[in-house]
Amino acid sequence: MAATRKTSPTPKARKAALPALDLGVAKEQLPGITAILKTLLADEVILYTRLRNYHWNVNGPHFYPLHQLFEAQYDEVEAIIDEVAERIRQFGVAAPGTLAEFLQMARLKEQPGDVSAAMAMVATLAGDHEALVRFLREDIEIIDDEADEAGVEDLLTGLLQQHQKMAWMLRATAEAAS
Ligand SMILES: [Fe+2]
Repeated sequence: MAATRKTSPTPKARKAALPALDLGVAKEQLPGITAILKTLLADEVILYTRLRNYHWNVNGPHFYPLHQLFEAQYDEVEAIIDEVAERIRQFGVAAPGTLAEFLQMARLKEQPGDVSAAMAMVATLAGDHEALVRFLREDIEIIDDEADEAGVEDLLTGLLQQHQKMAWMLRATAEAAS
């Protein structure tokens, strides 16, 4: 009997061996869940960019502590951005990754040419974090009511607390400086 030649599985066969993604979430719930995450991702990118802008351009007697505080916050927001984008991917959906998409989707808005005074920067950023806290409350409500997806609710609840804390740090800074 002639020996049969072993061939490696074709790419198609390898793909077929992978089970369909099943996270226990109904397929029709995925667009709603990932749309909330995409909008949040866009908001976080806007906030990250504003923090970078202010880190570079802050001026005045409070320069150094504000320069450092803004850096600490953009580092925290950068980690949030990665976490949210990767959560979108875990649902088998492409994460938006262009500035054009982020600008179009975000609830937070940019202010081109913004050359605010130092404490106005602090106030704007506190307002951004508090807006995100409110958006996140609404998003958690929606996911709880419509999809009941515990993982995303947990992610968003954690982010709500992070933004609440970052808002407080900015408010406390403005109060100490006034
Ligand atoms: Fe820097």
